[in-house]
Amino acid sequence: MSGTAQIGVTGLAVMGRNLARNFARNGFTVAVHNRTASKTDALVGEFGGEGAFVAAHTPEEFVAALERPRRLVVMVKAGDPTDAVIQEFAPLLEEGDVIIDGGNAHFEDTRRREKELRERGVHFVGAGISGGEEGALHGPSIMPGGSAESYASLGPLLERIAAKAKDGTPCTAHIGPDGAGHFVKMVHNGIEYADMQLIAEAYDLLRRVAGYSPARIAETFRSWNTGRLDSYLIEITAEVLAHTDADTGEPFVDIVQDRAEQKGTGRWTVQIALDLGVPVSGIAEAVFARSLSGHADLREAARGLPGPSAKPLEGAQAAAFADRVEQALYASKIVSYTQGFHQIRVGSDTYGWDVDLGSVAAIWRAGCIIRAAFLDRIRAAYASRPDLLSLLSDEEFEREIGAAQDDWRAVVAESARQGVPTPGFAAALAYYDGLRADRLPAALTQGQRDFFGAHTYRRTDRKGIFHTLWGGDRSEVTGG
Ligand SMILES: NC(=O)c1ccc[n+]([C@@H]2O[C@H](COP(=O)([O-])OP(=O)(O)OC[C@H]3O[C@@H](n4cnc5c(N)ncnc54)[C@H](OP(=O)(O)O)[C@@H]3O)[C@@H](O)[C@H]2O)c1
Repeated sequence: MSGTAQIGVTGLAVMGRNLARNFARNGFTVAVHNRTASKTDALVGEFGGEGAFVAAHTPEEFVAALERPRRLVVMVKAGDPTDAVIQEFAPLLEEGDVIIDGGNAHFEDTRRREKELRERGVHFVGAGISGGEEGALHGPSIMPGGSAESYASLGPLLERIAAKAKDGTPCTAHIGPDGAGHFVKMVHNGIEYADMQLIAEAYDLLRRVAGYSPARIAETFRSWNTGRLDSYLIEITAEVLAHTDADTGEPFVDIVQDRAEQKGTGRWTVQIALDLGVPVSGIAEAVFARSLSGHADLREAARGLPGPSAKPLEGAQAAAFADRVEQALYASKIVSYTQGFHQIRVGSDTYGWDVDLGSVAAIWRAGCIIRAAFLDRIRAAYASRPDLLSLLSDEEFEREIGAAQDDWRAVVAESARQGVPTPGFAAALAYYDGLRADRLPAALTQGQRDFFGAHTYRRTDRKGIFHTLWGGDRSEVTGG
């Protein structure tokens, strides 16, 4: 027997609950279920007036409430709980039904789950969902993987509840088979780490080198937010910096311990980038900067080490420096996105996903944490050249980074001179200079490897693989 609910949500903590309400507010009949049944009743009791909910107290009731093919969203704790819930529901499902995991799963877990369920004839969609609890309720950015067939059944519902970009396009699209959606969500979070780190470095420079107060920096960020840096993260940064602690009257940022935490998706991005051989140095520096901040013991031990203390600039010099920081931030941001999109391209090639990079940029334009006007530029760059190798090869970005580079270099040099750490700005600049170099010292690295490990090398003037007999005659031997 088939039920009447077009979609079901199991796992009614903050994300699942808001997602279920979003479906209901958009006119869908939603079956709701939670391991602890009281949460199901609480949701329907509190928000039942927002739309059509069917409360289910057992997995059997939940499955029976869904129309076929069934679409069942799992919003439980990532990891073992997700496997436990899948194992509980899978035997109750039929061929063609769709399980959607909206949690923050590792894409390799999603690949494994998709394969297991495919063998039972059930579609498994790993869907990255970004935007936090507000996004889940009012419109997130949704990155669904899985089969094209499952998207045909699920897509129209997701498109209704997703955020809408300024041009009205829903911020969701089929990303690609099996783990593609969760992979793209992982890189999204890595880029989010890099964006946040770059903004934090800009703040630190404005505070310690330009000598601005948090309130003045909030104003600076507000004005940047009306230009090319227009984004959710810049907007909330201004809010945080303008906030005063009610108890002490101090700027809020000064009463918060300077030890950043991480949930793991940034770390996954870097781990996978290492496996794929993709240089995501901006994301890596962001993860390491958080890690460094957390080592209170090391920091305490190093506090007295020699080095300069920043001397704030004054008047027009400070204002000119602030303008340079905006250039450095923008150029470094272009590099972060270049690295993130490179990782998605290599992931897509490695796993055969055929991800449309322009479409990824398009669905990040609203709803998600990295939403920004800038993403429409990236969408346009891939739309005009779908085979674009790197964002740095796009004429517009090339022109902008060219215009920013003198200031970018000046900011990195000044930060080193004044002893203000800017690992994100510096890594981005090193990546840029590394890519544009005619020759890299990797040639010397190859020579060293051949010397101590007979690892061989290739020559610039002849084909083949070579090894030098280091020692007496230093003659060359051609390998295979
Ligand atoms: N919070 C965010 O901003 C955010 C953003 C994007 C994605 N996510 C992802 O979305 C998912 C849900 O996040 P959340 O913060 O709403 O909830 P959560 O705290 O991660 O998980 C709590 C939910 O999981 C259920 N659960 C835990 N273990 C279970 C098990 N063994 N069997 C059945 N159910 C189990 C709980 O049921 P009981 O009520 O019975 O304990 C509850 O409904 C997570 O994967 C998270 O990573 C979260």
